[in-house]
Amino acid sequence: MERSIIIAPSVLSADFSDIRGALIDIEHSGTDWVHLDVMDGQFVPNITFGPKFIADIRPHSGLYFDAHLMVDEPIRFIEHFAKAGCDNITVHVEACRDVQKTIDAIKSFGVGCGLSIKPQNPVSAVVPYLDQLDLVLVMSVNPGFGGQGLIPETLGKVRELADMKNDRGYLIEIDGGVNYSTIADVFASGVDVAVTGSAFFNAQDKGEFVDRLSKGQGERR
Ligand code: DX5
Ligand code: ZN
Repeated sequence: MERSIIIAPSVLSADFSDIRGALIDIEHSGTDWVHLDVMDGQFVPNITFGPKFIADIRPHSGLYFDAHLMVDEPIRFIEHFAKAGCDNITVHVEACRDVQKTIDAIKSFGVGCGLSIKPQNPVSAVVPYLDQLDLVLVMSVNPGFGGQGLIPETLGKVRELADMKNDRGYLIEIDGGVNYSTIADVFASGVDVAVTGSAFFNAQDKGEFVDRLSKGQGERR
């Protein structure tokens, strides 16, 4: 069967004054996932939204809520995000004083557990935890803002994680700079989930965009 990856549009690039419209656009594009970028102004130089925003949109969407916490000491907020209705919670390995305790906290709520690494950090930072993870998020831009260019070297980390999978069940997700120009290389690296913010919301035909990106195909010329 033809390989296909999950496309996870990020609401970071949506118009927050019409968030329900953005969720409908995502659902109509044919994907099942939405990526929720939570920023605290400390771990990253930007601020987005918190658990109340997620709890408020939860009743309006059946999408899989993939939360990406760019927050210092996220263990403080895991309960709030889990109860808000996140299906998966990803934290940064760099942001946790005690990574194991943070993983335990996420799992105690029965939601998916992800660990993320910034572009400058090696895969070895997450290796000790791989057996326990549902998802590993490789940042392909410096976290904080949408619309940046993908750092090509980060794809090597996706390949490393794909080689290490064996019979482990984690999904490999990439986040930042995924668009029609980069998708062929992203797809070939072996990712399972590709986040896309600005390119998704700029796409004229979002259904075609999701369909083509999920198959690793760039823009038709
Ligand atoms: C960056 C965020 C990304 C971002 C991706 O810190 O984690 O999810 O929204 O946006 P694009 O696709 O525009 O690079
Ligand atoms: Zn993200």
